[in-house]
Amino acid sequence: MPFSLEGKTALVTGAGRGIGRAIAQKLSEYGAAVMVNDLDAGPAGETAETLAKGAACAGDVTDSAFPQTLVSATIEKFGSLDIVVNNAGYTWDSVIQKTTDEQYQAMLNIHLMAPFRILRAASEWIRETAKKEAAAGHRTMRKVVNITSIAGTDGGAGQAGYSSGKAGVIGLTKTLAKEWGRYNVNVNAVGFGLIETRLIQPMTAGQDTSIDMQGRKVKIGVQPAMLEWAKTACPLGRTGTPEEAASAVLFFCSPLSDYVTGEVLICGGGLHF
Ligand SMILES: NC(=O)c1ccc[n+]([C@@H]2O[C@H](COP(=O)([O-])OP(=O)(O)OC[C@H]3O[C@@H](n4cnc5c(N)ncnc54)[C@H](O)[C@@H]3O)[C@@H](O)[C@H]2O)c1
Repeated sequence: MPFSLEGKTALVTGAGRGIGRAIAQKLSEYGAAVMVNDLDAGPAGETAETLAKGAACAGDVTDSAFPQTLVSATIEKFGSLDIVVNNAGYTWDSVIQKTTDEQYQAMLNIHLMAPFRILRAASEWIRETAKKEAAAGHRTMRKVVNITSIAGTDGGAGQAGYSSGKAGVIGLTKTLAKEWGRYNVNVNAVGFGLIETRLIQPMTAGQDTSIDMQGRKVKIGVQPAMLEWAKTACPLGRTGTPEEAASAVLFFCSPLSDYVTGEVLICGGGLHF
């Protein structure tokens, strides 16, 4: 291994399944202690159990008070906070004329407000710790990775809310890169193309692909024709795996990216909308 994350503490949101779970496992494989968050307690606990040093803190990152609880629980459990991956998310798609205010707002809440609140909650500990390290003549690089999408960078038809949230988080990323450079924090974003999780399951006729999201039934998945188009349009000719997605995130969590900040890395096999 060209580096180790031994002694580092990571917080990964939405890590009960899919890409977040693969990120938590990848960071753990490289030695980090990982606080696993998910809305669903069962999957969060299951992921944590697969990790060498893992714990779970289930809860809804869109609940205004929860981000502080989550950050405090991580610092209390592992004694530090070195890597934050804002990954929790879902799609709630429709063309603009069918998109309700509630639906649009829900997309901004999960993809933009939640990362903002989590990073604001972490800022006090990060600033105070960096100041102490500087006074002692040390420089410790910390890492923030915000998850975005090609829907955010390119726009996704039928995804006004999702694309707006995923584009917005790029603004947050670039701003914090500027505010937190002095505290030795690399703040970057990774945007995915089509990665094989429940979010891109084919919406086949007669099959219910909806999930329960805070008491609402939300239809996820993509049209089979869209999946076929994506495979043809994608230079690598296939969808990606959660492990491949996690590898791109690992780069931004590792010392290999110590002099990279405010950037967006697209991990999509070359696919663009
Ligand atoms: N799969 C793709 O093709 C793809 C493409 C681009 C971007 N993304 C992004 O990657 C991230 C992970 O998605 P995935 O494909 O692994 O989906 P997934 O549904 O497999 O996993 C997402 C996890 O986030 C959790 N979550 C959702 N809302 C939450 C909340 N309010 N609080 C806490 N946890 C919550 C869910 O319970 C779920 O376990 C998302 O931000 C998604 O938008 C995915």
